[in-house]
Amino acid sequence: MPEAPSGSPAVDRREFRRALGHFPTGVTIVTTQHQGQLAGMTANSFASVSLDPPLVLWSIDKNSHSLPVFEQADCFAINVLAADQLDLASRFARSGADKFAGLPWQPGVGGAPCLPGVSATFECRKRSMIDAGDHFILLGEVERYARADRDPLLFAHGRFGLAVDYPVLVSGGADATAASPATDRPTMLGLLWDAFTGMSHAFQEERDALGLVSVSQGRVLSLIERYPGAEADFIARKAAVSPQGLEEAVRALASSGFLAIGPDGSWGLTPKGRDHVTLRRQRAAAIEASQLKAFTAAELETTCRVLRALGGG
Ligand SMILES: Cc1cc2nc3c(=O)[nH]c(=O)nc-3n(C[C@H](O)[C@H](O)[C@H](O)COP(=O)(O)O)c2cc1C
Repeated sequence: MPEAPSGSPAVDRREFRRALGHFPTGVTIVTTQHQGQLAGMTANSFASVSLDPPLVLWSIDKNSHSLPVFEQADCFAINVLAADQLDLASRFARSGADKFAGLPWQPGVGGAPCLPGVSATFECRKRSMIDAGDHFILLGEVERYARADRDPLLFAHGRFGLAVDYPVLVSGGADATAASPATDRPTMLGLLWDAFTGMSHAFQEERDALGLVSVSQGRVLSLIERYPGAEADFIARKAAVSPQGLEEAVRALASSGFLAIGPDGSWGLTPKGRDHVTLRRQRAAAIEASQLKAFTAAELETTCRVLRALGGG
């Protein structure tokens, strides 16, 4: 077993960042407006600080292009993204171009843009801006909030994710009947979760034994193989990783010899990368075949039909 990375952040910043990524967060777009100039950026540094008075904070990179507008503006709005707003998270995680182009929004306190379809909004008056290393911490007093019945988008390990109830509560546990009072079977979501974790656990053991790359790197590699020439955004969205997570995965895959990066920045699988994808698919198919061998063709067909319908296709 390789030794788990540990040490001083000064020695390996990338590993330090990775360790920080073990703390899951939500995803926000913080927006502001000063003299008609709009600014907004994806941020997961948001945290609640105090209920009385109602204070929240987030931090902004000193290299951010939006910094001058946030410095001058008196207010900002925290837009907590909903699970189906991955596209917005990616759009506001990039510098440059007008991020608000074609986007409907409402002016909140101090004119800060409030975005539609979000899970919650906190409209804040800026209290202070605290110098903190390569970031500034912005402390704000919440003047108005709104919340909607929408699940939030999550972020952990450099990847976007969804909130799923702890499985014991939705299937089979002591509270199973309370969770689904109309029937004595556990909820479908609980069954899907158990099936997913059970099936992927077997593959993970095999992955570790064969020295295959991590789940997200494997996904990125397969997608680059399946969609040659696709835009980075497309690959990031399909693999459910952030632009930065994609960059890290590509760098790691290139340095292990699975990907070649062309002079124009394009990616392509090396022969080693192709072999890896083939091996991965073969092993996944073999494990799946063994997991499903107890079922009849008719049972599998019905299950596939139900799962496809639940997945929207
Ligand atoms: C999930 C996620 C969370 C982020 N959180 C922050 C943050 O808290 N503070 C920050 O300065 N940048 C954060 N970023 C990076 C900015 O969104 C990114 O640098 C953006 O391009 C800044 O835009 P700007 O340069 O136009 O201001 C985050 C990016 C992602 C994908």
